[in-house]
Amino acid sequence: MNAVRIGLLGLGTVGGGTLELLARNGDEIARRAGRPIRVTHASVRDAGRPRGPQAANVQLLADPFELVHHPQIDIVAELIGGIEPARALVLAAINAGKHVVTANKALIAHHGNEIFEAARRAGVAVGFEAAVAGGIPIIKTLREGLAGNRIQGLAGIINGTSNYILTQMRDAGLDFATALADAQRLGYAEADPSFDIDGVDAAHKLSILAAIAFGMPLCFDQVHVEGIRGLSAMDVDYAGQLGYRLKLLGIARRTERGVQLRVHPTLLPQRHLLAQVDGVINAVLVDSDALGQSLYYGAGAGAGPTASAVVADLIDIARALTIDPEHRVPYLAFHHDRLQALPILPI
Ligand code: NDP
Ligand code: HSE
Repeated sequence: MNAVRIGLLGLGTVGGGTLELLARNGDEIARRAGRPIRVTHASVRDAGRPRGPQAANVQLLADPFELVHHPQIDIVAELIGGIEPARALVLAAINAGKHVVTANKALIAHHGNEIFEAARRAGVAVGFEAAVAGGIPIIKTLREGLAGNRIQGLAGIINGTSNYILTQMRDAGLDFATALADAQRLGYAEADPSFDIDGVDAAHKLSILAAIAFGMPLCFDQVHVEGIRGLSAMDVDYAGQLGYRLKLLGIARRTERGVQLRVHPTLLPQRHLLAQVDGVINAVLVDSDALGQSLYYGAGAGAGPTASAVVADLIDIARALTIDPEHRVPYLAFHHDRLQALPILPI
């Protein structure tokens, strides 16, 4: 059967990891998807930089807009980051009839409503599993696994960089700046790491989780946000002496009066489940009426974990493509036209 052809926008930490994973597990992925999944084209900023052996058969295009319009590409994976040109590229891909996979939480949080509407009109899919909590399949869990539940709330460690910094300050005695530099070197941090340490990245992700969990429109601007920039090794140390651990949490809670959305450093008793989550690991604790409390745990950043989520979306879309188009229900991110505005409560 013909391969599903992928155009990768970006071959950095996530793009490189995606290429590597598709090559390493290609046979198994082809069996699961019903067709081989092959990266045929890519576009990067610096075409002169060596990209490793996996990229040898990938055609590099200097112009990313050429990639999104390329007639031989079925799915565009946007792994560039930032708002522009990512937004323009994603919309161009959708309008050209391409399915899109993205790991870009900033883009979804700020422009998801516009992107999902364009995808609905074009009848294409937008997968964004990698945008929240790295490799943990939390989007699929909320949207599909818990679809029969009313979700009352969730609380999570959803920024790997901040959790890595807090853990290193506590366990390795590193100062804030050194721990952040390590997270950047390991490929966990955003291009602008202030997004990680000021809570903005966690707020992007929280607004996406809340939209799916509560069926409400994306509302990043209404999330209360505080980061970890102001915390010192002494704060982390005193928290420990008092029997607590400091964690940056994203919390979404639904009450009869509305929804509360907040990101801030939180003191958790040392025996709390989320207090045990260390390093780049993320975890999301969900409260839902039928299942009760459930916990989702795994690596929240880095090449392999994030590629795991990107490839899962590629496989989902590839599977849908094997269905006769007349019977194919477009696999859309979520039904944004059925969302219900909910009042946001002040903090
Ligand atoms: P990197 O900075 O490692 O890679 C970005 C890639 O995009 C590079 O290959 C870069 O090219 C390319 N690029 C940048 N601008 C352009 C452009 N205008 N045209 C074409 N290519 C361009 O970022 P990451 O891989 O870390 O992150 C990518 C996305 O994934 C972001 O949205 C991020 O938030 C998200 N994400 C990242 C995670 C992580 O752990 N790193 C985890 C989950 C999501 P060049 O190589 O030439 O510089
Ligand atoms: N910078 C992000 C983090 C990447 O540290 O969690 C994963 O979304």
